[in-house]
This record gives sequence, C-alpha cells and structure tokens, in this order.
Amino acid sequence: MRRRKEPKWLLAAKERGGVTEDGDFLSRALSRAGVLPHLEAERAIREGRVSVNGRVATVVVAPLDEGAKVELDGDVVDVRPTTRVLAFHKPKGLVVDGRDREGIGTVFERLHALLPKELRGYGWLAVGRLDRDTTGLLFFTNDERFVAHATDPETKLPKRYVATVSGKVSDAKLERLRNGVELEDFRSVPAKAERRSEHDVALTLTEGKFHQVKRMLGAVGLATLELHREAVGEYVIDVPIDTLREMTDEEVERLLGYRPRHLDR
Ligand code: URA
Repeated sequence: MRRRKEPKWLLAAKERGGVTEDGDFLSRALSRAGVLPHLEAERAIREGRVSVNGRVATVVVAPLDEGAKVELDGDVVDVRPTTRVLAFHKPKGLVVDGRDREGIGTVFERLHALLPKELRGYGWLAVGRLDRDTTGLLFFTNDERFVAHATDPETKLPKRYVATVSGKVSDAKLERLRNGVELEDFRSVPAKAERRSEHDVALTLTEGKFHQVKRMLGAVGLATLELHREAVGEYVIDVPIDTLREMTDEEVERLLGYRPRHLDR
C-alpha cells in the first residue's frame, strides 16, 4: 500500500526542526485524543482558543511536551496518547483518499456517516489503501504509530486477500506466486498462495505495494475480476459490508500485534 502523504506544512515543520519524527505537536495531539478532528483543531489553534501551560498557542505544529497542560476554550483537555482502531468492511466504489477527484465518494465520507457521536472528535487515518473496486477489511485509527506498525513491511503483518480470477488457478501458478514474482519495479517477497476453487485464489502478503495483488496475479497470467481483503494479522473480518466496529484493546494487541498507547501511560 502507498504511504499516506504527509501534509506540506508538516514536512516543512519537520525540516525546520520544530517537530521530530517521534515528538508530538499540538494539533495532532488534539485530534488523536478525540478533542477535535484535524482541521477543526488547526482552526481552533489559529483562532487562539487553545493554550498550553497557560499561554495561548497559535502554531499548529507547536511541539508538545509530555504532561503539558492543554486548554480549549478555557477547559482543560486530556491529550495523552490513546489508540483506537475501527474495522470497516469497505464496499466497492469508495476511494481511500481524502480527496474525491471523480466525485464518487470516499471512505472518509462513509466513515463520518457511520461514526457514533462519541468517536466524532477524533482525527481518523486510513490504515493502508484498497482500490476503489476492492472490498473488505480497512482499518481506521487515530494513532499514526499504529498506521506505521500495520503498513511497514518490516512488521510483516500478514494481509490476506481473496481474488476471483479469469483463468484457472493451476498448481504451477500457485507455486510462482509463492516464490515471489518479478514486477516492473520490484520482486514480490514470497507469499502464501492457496486455491479456494478453480477461479478463486487466496494470497497472503506481508508487503503492500500499489495494486500489488492484481499485479502479482497479472504476472502469472491471471486477470483479477473481484478482490476482497478478508484478514489482517489474526483478525478475520466479522462485520457486515458497509459497517464498522471498534476493536477492543485486547484484540488490537493479540490479533494485530500492537500495544494500544493508553495501556502504558
Ligand atoms: N492489491 C491490489 O491490487 N489492490 C488492492 O486493493 C489491495 C491490494
């Protein structure tokens, strides 16, 4: 999957040295903590409604020390790191992009329509990407470290896809998929591949390059007709299409191998 692009202002701030890779900053802390979503947090800061340790903060990327006292409109707010993870069953037709270039609807619009009131204050990030016509498991989270954990090939978190293909899934093709196939820009690392039926194949990858499954299948002569992501880590999607549910802390840790940040504070 392609990494979510960082906004220009954040890259610039990092270059200026204001924000370290691991350090926290004001607008991110507010949206991660569920106080205000990203854009509203930025607006509130620019409007002078946020103070840090008693002083009005007007810089969106102002570095934030652990234990700083943050107030919004005069009320103290808790900005200590939390991790929330939502499992969404993506239907076909929605793009995993903040911008909707073709006016066909984004997963974020759908997310906001489905979110219960108590989760609306968070800034939600999509964890990886699925193509517009792919269905299945897509996580959203408020925690950028969880995004890194789940999408970094180094973590080796398995993602299982099931594809319906035009040709027959032969043993020879399965073997090639297992060994890794040569694509234009890279060679895929060995993957698990199993036949589910004559025209259905399950592929489990620990990396996620752009259109990787379709490209791997294409490289062995199989055109993808349908693609569905059914599992990530040890979690197999269990919510009906076009619905979501919040994962428990225990599930995030046991099934996805990530320790929610609020458990250690
Ligand atoms: N690989 C693809 O080709 N498409 C997806 O949506 C996900 C993985």
